[in-house]
Amino acid sequence: MKNGKIKVAVIGAGNIAQNAHIPSYKNQKDVEIVGICDINLDRAKDAANRFNIKYVSDKYQEILDIEEIDAVSICTTNDAHAEIAIAAANAKKHILCEKPMAMNVKEAEDMVKAARDNNIIFMMGFVNRFRADSKLIKELADAGKFGEIYYAKAGWFRRRGTPLGWFTNLSKSGGGPVIDIGVHVIDLTWYFMGKPKPISVSAATYNKIGDYKTKGVSRWIALDADNIVFETEDSASGFIRFENGATMTVDVSWAINGKDTGIFSNIFGTKAGASLNPFVIYDEQENYLFDSAPVINSENSFDNEINHFIECIREGKEPIATAEDGLEVQKMLNGIYDSAKLGREVTL
Ligand SMILES: NC(=O)c1ccc[n+]([C@@H]2O[C@H](COP(=O)([O-])OP(=O)(O)OC[C@H]3O[C@@H](n4cnc5c(N)ncnc54)[C@H](O)[C@@H]3O)[C@@H](O)[C@H]2O)c1
Repeated sequence: MKNGKIKVAVIGAGNIAQNAHIPSYKNQKDVEIVGICDINLDRAKDAANRFNIKYVSDKYQEILDIEEIDAVSICTTNDAHAEIAIAAANAKKHILCEKPMAMNVKEAEDMVKAARDNNIIFMMGFVNRFRADSKLIKELADAGKFGEIYYAKAGWFRRRGTPLGWFTNLSKSGGGPVIDIGVHVIDLTWYFMGKPKPISVSAATYNKIGDYKTKGVSRWIALDADNIVFETEDSASGFIRFENGATMTVDVSWAINGKDTGIFSNIFGTKAGASLNPFVIYDEQENYLFDSAPVINSENSFDNEINHFIECIREGKEPIATAEDGLEVQKMLNGIYDSAKLGREVTL
């Protein structure tokens, strides 16, 4: 951190790197992006030219060997998160890891261990925690506004919104909408609930619509969108039990014959409840039912996420989205897949 500058590298130079992480680092004062890596060297070079980044490589270890680099963002396909995170931790670099943490629970456990053993800051890129409305719900939950949150209902239905590219290739993604967008809604809702310990999951997954040909719809397109295979689920429904007796239902789809919902999260407490999208607080005032809608400006949640990561590095503090959080969420994600496969509830 010479001259007070924090020097970062971005590994994986695809969409989320170029459209979110790099621009948000650029918005930070006293942060310099000095390294970029992608197994597609041309892509890494293009990004380096576009964003004026000095070190370029197609091998992540070459970037991790550069001493002046303090921290890395891991923005690769899901299959490479664990390997790169463990190598980065061993190279004593702080880590911001895109969601999902890993392909499975074993990988996530190894990542937690590597981060702990090397005493580095590991932050999960759970970007929805950094939305202005989410921050307010969490603040109210922590202040006891909702009382005991005993039930939650979360989800994200896309009618036709399957990402194009590696996302449907099981060996690169680890799963479909559960691991891709379920990760957001499960994490966010669990965070609102105060992160109770998950103990069991019952779920079903479906692949009924798959590789549709629907016209007039848009989708997230990965940079390598050729060679597409459809090996994952296209929708799922799950029920998660927590040690404190609370429960969460989760419904997600990339493709379903129903209404598009966007990300939604409803928490139900003994004193009040809240829903996100639309943002409403449900309570009683003077013995009347009240619905209140907070007036709140939206914020750039990637800017907020990266600002928090940099602040944690600078001040040596624990991020609000830790590696341990990533592991607990991974257990719920893989619990959904395990339960769906076995056709019964599984304990975690
Ligand atoms: N937070 C969010 O809302 C959000 C949104 C989209 C994607 N993501 C996550 O971001 C990650 C990347 O997604 P994307 O949409 O940018 O995909 P992408 O396909 O556009 O980019 C991924 C890049 O990683 C590179 N790569 C793969 N393995 C590598 C390795 N071993 N070393 C270096 N580079 C490697 C690929 O060549 C590719 O350029 C995924 O984990 C995804 O789940 C998060």
